[in-house]
Amino acid sequence: MVNSTHAFLAACRREATSYTPIWLMRQAGRYMEDYRKLRAQHDFLELCKKPDLAAEITITPVERLGVDAAILFADILLILEPMGVGLEYPKGDGPVIHRPVRSGKDVDGLKDFAPATELEFVYDAVKKIAKALKNKVPLIGFAGAPFTLASYLIEGGGSRHYIHTKKLYYNTPEAWQRLMERLVKVVVEYLNCQIAAGAQAVQLFDSWAGCLAPGDYEQFAMPYTKAVIDALTPGVPVINFSTGTAGALKQVRAAGGDVIGLDWRVHLDEGWATVGHDVAVQGNLDPVALFAAPKEIKARAADILRRAAGRPGHIFNLGHGVLPETPVDHVIALVDAVHELSAR
Ligand code: CP3
Repeated sequence: MVNSTHAFLAACRREATSYTPIWLMRQAGRYMEDYRKLRAQHDFLELCKKPDLAAEITITPVERLGVDAAILFADILLILEPMGVGLEYPKGDGPVIHRPVRSGKDVDGLKDFAPATELEFVYDAVKKIAKALKNKVPLIGFAGAPFTLASYLIEGGGSRHYIHTKKLYYNTPEAWQRLMERLVKVVVEYLNCQIAAGAQAVQLFDSWAGCLAPGDYEQFAMPYTKAVIDALTPGVPVINFSTGTAGALKQVRAAGGDVIGLDWRVHLDEGWATVGHDVAVQGNLDPVALFAAPKEIKARAADILRRAAGRPGHIFNLGHGVLPETPVDHVIALVDAVHELSAR
């Protein structure tokens, strides 16, 4: 939505807004024909590395959907490429790390690099997007949280049980700590560079934290997410997003962030009460609900808004990203419903 008062940034700060702001994770992606057309002509990494294309992909859904924020088009795994682990996005499959990290020796063999210079294409995209948006809606930058990045590095791809990841912290906790400290350092520099280039808020994606028992989250993930958040440029809202963490929300909250992401496995009001009303929340519609008829989508949006109870500090989103087969008109129906139902 074109709005000069920036409902999204106000909600991050728990200020009152005239309606509930909404944006969607993966709002730029394969469910959109414009994206599929560009993707047919370019490799995924090429789209990320060409700032003009990344900017176009970022802005198209903002205009098409009428959402209240733009999210930089990039990927959480881009930061792993300069570490020399062989990142590839094969057609049809999830991303692959050809030389996964499985030992302390592997950790020490990771290439040291400066995110400020080696990921410059990302900051160039941020600058272009910020310029093109003309401050109509804020731009969100992002990075993977240390745990999710580490698990991708260690597993070499997506995983069902995260056995290699957990073995590394069970068997060689010092190697785990060294790896996580390296990740903290590069993520901090990367996000602060995005902020310097014009990102007005940042989201940390801890998409796989849900595989952890709360005690393991607290010991092996939380301190590093907290270290990242504590080192970010002050004054820029931070969204701490994870999925599958309904049983660890207190620990997630302890990691920090101005906004805590809630997925659909917890009622929004119960999740908000658990993390505390002194922090904003983002969520939490099931992404699959977008496959229901628009009337049903509206009813489910109304339920979430009822649970938010008009309290300042709710940002509407899905509990995870828009899925590739989602009908675009259903996504637009959700955005319209949230704006209409929450107008105050
Ligand atoms: O949200 C947005 O619109 C911004 C762009 C964005 C992408 N990835 C583009 C992308 C963001 C914020 C991400 C984050 C990301 N990437 C996460 C965290 C969020 C989540 O979904 O859990 C993760 C785990 C990744 C890693 C990743 N990248 C995977 C597992 C995959 C393959 C599976 C999939 O969902 O497509 C990717 C590829 C990817 N990242 C695509 C896009 C648009 C699809 C690539 C293609 O066109 O083939």
